[in-house]
Amino acid sequence: MIQQNLNKFSIEKALQSALFQGLIRNEDTAVIFYDLAFLAARISNLAANFPQNTLHGLAIKANPLARIMEFVRTIARNTGVEAASAGEVNMALKAGYRPNQVVFDSPVKTRADLVFALGAGVHLNIDNLSELERVSELTLTGSSTLTGSVGLRINPQIGLGTILESSVAGDYSKFGIPIKYQRKELEHACITYPWLTGVHLHVGSQGCDVSLLTEGIGVLYDFVLEMNEKRKKTGIPLINVFDIGGGLPISYKSETTPPSMEEYVKSILNRAPKLFDPEEFQLITEFGRWSYTNSGWTVSRVEYVKHDPSIKTAMIHVGADLFVRECLNPRDWQHEYTVFDRNGNLKHGVDTLPYNLAGPLCFSGDFVAKGVLLPEIEEGDFIAIHDTGGYTFSMWSRYNSRQTPRVLGYQGDRFQMLKERESLEELQRFWE
Ligand code: LLP
Repeated sequence: MIQQNLNKFSIEKALQSALFQGLIRNEDTAVIFYDLAFLAARISNLAANFPQNTLHGLAIKANPLARIMEFVRTIARNTGVEAASAGEVNMALKAGYRPNQVVFDSPVKTRADLVFALGAGVHLNIDNLSELERVSELTLTGSSTLTGSVGLRINPQIGLGTILESSVAGDYSKFGIPIKYQRKELEHACITYPWLTGVHLHVGSQGCDVSLLTEGIGVLYDFVLEMNEKRKKTGIPLINVFDIGGGLPISYKSETTPPSMEEYVKSILNRAPKLFDPEEFQLITEFGRWSYTNSGWTVSRVEYVKHDPSIKTAMIHVGADLFVRECLNPRDWQHEYTVFDRNGNLKHGVDTLPYNLAGPLCFSGDFVAKGVLLPEIEEGDFIAIHDTGGYTFSMWSRYNSRQTPRVLGYQGDRFQMLKERESLEELQRFWE
């Protein structure tokens, strides 16, 4: 079993160490941290739970930092990346991934994207029947030589998780080919194209429990076994690449226990026993949130504290620029928050009034959290927002043109710069 969350004591230790080493300068109103040893433990746990020939395509959309991509690449031999755009494919190649470690998923690939992907040797997941037609044309006309492998994203239509915006396997979805509605077309594709050797699904992100995720895999597994019987008869290569997507939920609250990777794997094996046989399948996984989120945290200085009759408001330096979904959909997205004094000492107790944590942006929904019980907060304190290693900085918004924070990685008390605070010149350039 691995550690689920970083606790406030280990955050205190790292914060004090960073302050002591002068790594949080005056202008660093907020800093993003990564515990790299924690991240490494996650990745090893992932690798240990799957067959050796599995390609773990960590979702870049959860964390596109080049230094993190490079770090992860060096930890386990079978890590790769899942790229959601041509830009992400390019970033992965720049970070040193080989093309056959890159999985390219996007529901809106242009012809140029497809020509590039087919020639570059990445694993391409086709999203829809029109894209399939384009790929077939490109390979038939010889405009592209297929150097990688190709899979088809299928929507297993097994239902939604608890978070609507990140559930994608309902009866309707903008992603993939719906298996109930377009089964004939899917079957036709599987017996027609010998180069179509993979299937792909992704059920949703957070909010989907193990049974829903497993059932999605099960639906595709049954389909693949049936299609492979047909392919055997016609002598075309069998479907042997099975991409199970990501989606395993994590805990954003230390008191809740999320499912473990061990539990998920056990459940998959029950439903789809041959899936882990390396003679039959090469598995691909695309875990983003599970891999990254719990290893990161963010601190902001408290600039002011405002007093109202029944609530206090801590004015901090990150809002909907860094925490887009927390501000826009607070019902589904909350974190743990810890208060430290200006020297990085943990503050204790609970203040008489609850706190709103307000960001610096110009709109009234710019609250990272509302009504939380915290120790008494003063100007100059630090507030740590836990579990920000995935889908946080990657969703940065340019609204109000704030500079992106310094990003530091650490192992024990050794720190390294993962990304410097954005300069005013870099910020200016974005808008020019
Ligand atoms: N594969 C595909 C095709 C995906 O669309 C995603 C996430 C993943 C893998 C990774 O899923 P994970 O293991 O990270 O759950 N913006 C949202 C997150 C959306 C996730 C989108 N797709 C958020 O606010 O957190």
